[in-house]
Amino acid sequence: MKITNICCIGAGYVGGPTMAVIAKKNPHIKVTIVDINQTRIDAWNSTDLSKLPIYEPGLADIVKETRNKNLFFSTAIDSAIDGAEMIFISVNTPTKTYGKGKGMAADLKYVELCARNIAEVAKNDKIVVEKSTLPVRTAEAIKSILDNTGSNVKFNVLSNPEFLAEGTAIQDLLKPDRVLIGGESAKAIESLAQIYASWVPENRILRTNVWSSELSKLTANAFLAQRISSINAISELCEKTEANVDEVAKAIGMDSRIGPKFLKSSVGFGGSCFQKDILNLVYIARSYNLQAVADYWEQVIILNNHQKQRFANNIINTLYNTVSGKKIGFLGWAFKKNTNDTRESAAIYVADYLLNEQACIAVYDPKVSHDKIQADLNYLNTRSADENNNLIHASKTPLDALKDAHAVAIMTEWDEFTTYDWKKIYQSMKKPAFIFDGRNILNKTEMENIGFTYTSIGQK
Ligand code: NAD
Ligand code: UGA
Repeated sequence: MKITNICCIGAGYVGGPTMAVIAKKNPHIKVTIVDINQTRIDAWNSTDLSKLPIYEPGLADIVKETRNKNLFFSTAIDSAIDGAEMIFISVNTPTKTYGKGKGMAADLKYVELCARNIAEVAKNDKIVVEKSTLPVRTAEAIKSILDNTGSNVKFNVLSNPEFLAEGTAIQDLLKPDRVLIGGESAKAIESLAQIYASWVPENRILRTNVWSSELSKLTANAFLAQRISSINAISELCEKTEANVDEVAKAIGMDSRIGPKFLKSSVGFGGSCFQKDILNLVYIARSYNLQAVADYWEQVIILNNHQKQRFANNIINTLYNTVSGKKIGFLGWAFKKNTNDTRESAAIYVADYLLNEQACIAVYDPKVSHDKIQADLNYLNTRSADENNNLIHASKTPLDALKDAHAVAIMTEWDEFTTYDWKKIYQSMKKPAFIFDGRNILNKTEMENIGFTYTSIGQK
């Protein structure tokens, strides 16, 4: 079937950029992205492109090129479903916060609601595409909901997981390493493959069975996160042995079997997916009674939590075992550079540990607002919103955040942090002035020559 009308449910970090690129590369297809969140849709429709709900390099240009031509943002979910031949489900699948599987399993209620919505509205045959990251065998549940409506509508369910990373989403979408399509119906698979074939070379479009596709997504994220936890584990050993983790990473990464990517030691990985997807993998393994498999993958999360805690402890120990009443300047709050996304950012947890020790924190992040920082901390429920508001605030400039601070903690690797006038910053801080570089982006010798006491990850 040649597709001319697509609906995507979920206008988030995946739905927005993915559909924008599909629309750009397929001008003959009408793409409508729908969401229940009116504010988010309004932001996508904003004439001021700096107000788009997601910051992603290159995204605004594509939205400008396609919006209201063949790309539309709307809250009219039913009519968009009705008009589409192919419907992508791109809603959030967070870790469950209640009931069975709390803290581990993926919460599939939003996905199920989409399936029910499609089942209710559809009057003719549809291809339903799982774009959200889902536990293996979810397609079975979606199919069961769709097939039990009593209507004669035929549904084909495909799995088409998304591998984009935030901050590089547009590049990842324009030049994907691979596009993965899992399904039963060869015809449905080819309908989707044709859309990608507008710009993705044929040999990069993989067709698999639906279960391999679902499981490959969780596995890919688990492998990527595992590399970070592996190098972070080595970073702690480096600190004891005077080895340098960046040198070790370079040395092992030059082995072509290991490769150089994803070996950057850090304060810990964040983001909405690595932790969620590994917890989900662990939960699935346990549900099949595969304890050794579950324990193996769980260790990736345990090590990541340890890395964040260890970073905070190091700040406290170095500042003479107390940070009470001391100002600590945070550079960065987003979970990585070039995004305004803060979900599961290491900064949130390090801040929470330091606030427990009564530190006062000033944060500068080029893309994150004061309200977002407060909301992230309030979500943890460690202390009241008023207490958080008194202890932590966002600064408009880096100099404001660091003036009279006892220490700087670099939490995100934004490029601009390396270009600052660090001499001027040093002069404005309390002495001795400490830098805790959670991303190893500054030059140790330069910082020490200025006068800082400089500590980084995996270097003595
Ligand atoms: P998100 O929270 O940014 O966006 C999800 C959107 O879905 C929200 O705007 C929400 O309002 C909307 N929504 C929820 N239920 C709805 C419903 N019933 N009807 C209409 N809209 C509804 O999430 P995201 O980061 O885009 O992630 C979506 C999925 O993609 C997740 O499964 C995630 O694991 C996966 N994924 C994310 C990334 C990433 O970089 N963020 C990358 C690959 C895969
Ligand atoms: C990750 C995957 O890279 C994507 O392929 C996947 O589609 C996505 O998850 C998802 O399923 O959501 P993302 O979380 O956006 O993408 O960003 P990454 O570049 O993977 O970074 C994740 C975290 O790991 C960040 O906090 C980053 O700073 C950290 N990281 C990354 C390191 O600490 N060291 C590294 O070497 C690489």
